[in-house]
Amino acid sequence: MVLLMIRLSSVAGEGGGGDGGAGDGEGGEGEANSGYLGKRLVKASLALGHETYVLNREEIGVDIEKVQMLLGFKEQGAHLVPGSFNDHQSLVKAVKLVDVVICAISGVHIRSHQILLQLKLVDAIKEAGNVKRFLPSEFGTDPARMGHAMEPGRVTFDDKMVVRRAIEEAGIPFTYVSANCFAGYFLGGLCQPGRILPSKDSVVLFSDGNTKAIYVDEDDIAMYTIKSIDDPRTLNKTLYIRPPQNILSQREIVETWEKLIGKELHKSSISEEQFLASLKGQNYAEQVGLTHYYHVCFEGCLTNFKIGNKGVEASELYPEKFNILPSIITCAAIYKMIVPSLLMSCFSFIPKLIIKGMINLRKA
Ligand SMILES: NC(=O)c1ccc[n+]([C@@H]2O[C@H](COP(=O)([O-])OP(=O)(O)OC[C@H]3O[C@@H](n4cnc5c(N)ncnc54)[C@H](OP(=O)(O)O)[C@@H]3O)[C@@H](O)[C@H]2O)c1
Repeated sequence: MVLLMIRLSSVAGEGGGGDGGAGDGEGGEGEANSGYLGKRLVKASLALGHETYVLNREEIGVDIEKVQMLLGFKEQGAHLVPGSFNDHQSLVKAVKLVDVVICAISGVHIRSHQILLQLKLVDAIKEAGNVKRFLPSEFGTDPARMGHAMEPGRVTFDDKMVVRRAIEEAGIPFTYVSANCFAGYFLGGLCQPGRILPSKDSVVLFSDGNTKAIYVDEDDIAMYTIKSIDDPRTLNKTLYIRPPQNILSQREIVETWEKLIGKELHKSSISEEQFLASLKGQNYAEQVGLTHYYHVCFEGCLTNFKIGNKGVEASELYPEKFNILPSIITCAAIYKMIVPSLLMSCFSFIPKLIIKGMINLRKA
């Protein structure tokens, strides 16, 4: 799902849009989409009681899994809104239904990168004139801090900045979400590029493995995002998601994993120079991803600055913890085949909280 739209019931003078089907009702909280993050945004929006609209792109055609997911959203109370990025008026009509628009269009080269398509959405929001907040597809490193980024990975930040400029030139109220590293992408493979499952034997550390980065559970990213949509404190600001307990070095993550499996991994390390040399010969999409790893894991680009007056920190604004688990445990979500055995083998010594978290994850 590329677009999640929400109608804010708290907005004075605007009511809910009824409980009918696609496109019914007037006004709404937000518009989001399916997709890796998008589906979590829909879930969070519904969980927080928002009247939620999801773009149903005609291009999906007979992609049965997407259609079934959209129908699943509808069953849970979301409205499906027909529309297409190739049909300006359909986008205008869609955003007129809502107060908040959240875009989660793809922006990871190894999957798909369509960030600039959002310029069409900006045009539609501008023409519609009713949207109180737009959250573009960001959810990573703050692109405004990445003017120095390396080629070819800088394309991600450059494109996101193009979209920001269009939003601001159009005078559209916004919140930019800097979500740092998705836990599923990074923690599962113990921060090693190209891996999303952990080894029980060995790990390659970035240099000494002590550079701090920020790893956030994707469901928490979705919850913080939805929390922010009608908060005056986040209006025209960047929302940085950096809860203190989520700031971890690669070494700390590996140590946590070692404690969980009750075994020390064999550790080697890759220097900055070796890492940069390894980029050569990789395809374009891989190079884009690897340069992002470089900035995060060698340079420390997520933690080497203080949040200034253009930003706010999510866990300070919303101190409630959405997932009670330490970050490392969120990676267990993608270890589903490993977790049951872990659960048995670790039951006697890991804290009850962690056990509870694992049980929650198994249910998810
Ligand atoms: N910080 C991190 O670690 C991290 C990791 C991953 C992603 N991100 C960021 O999170 C955001 C969302 O990424 P994601 O991985 O969740 O995206 P995704 O699952 O790859 O794709 C999201 C949606 O984009 C839509 N889409 C793709 N091609 C399209 C097209 N040609 N026209 C219209 N819609 C199209 C699809 O919507 P339909 O369902 O309608 O087809 C798809 O479901 C991006 O900004 C990305 O950079 C950050």
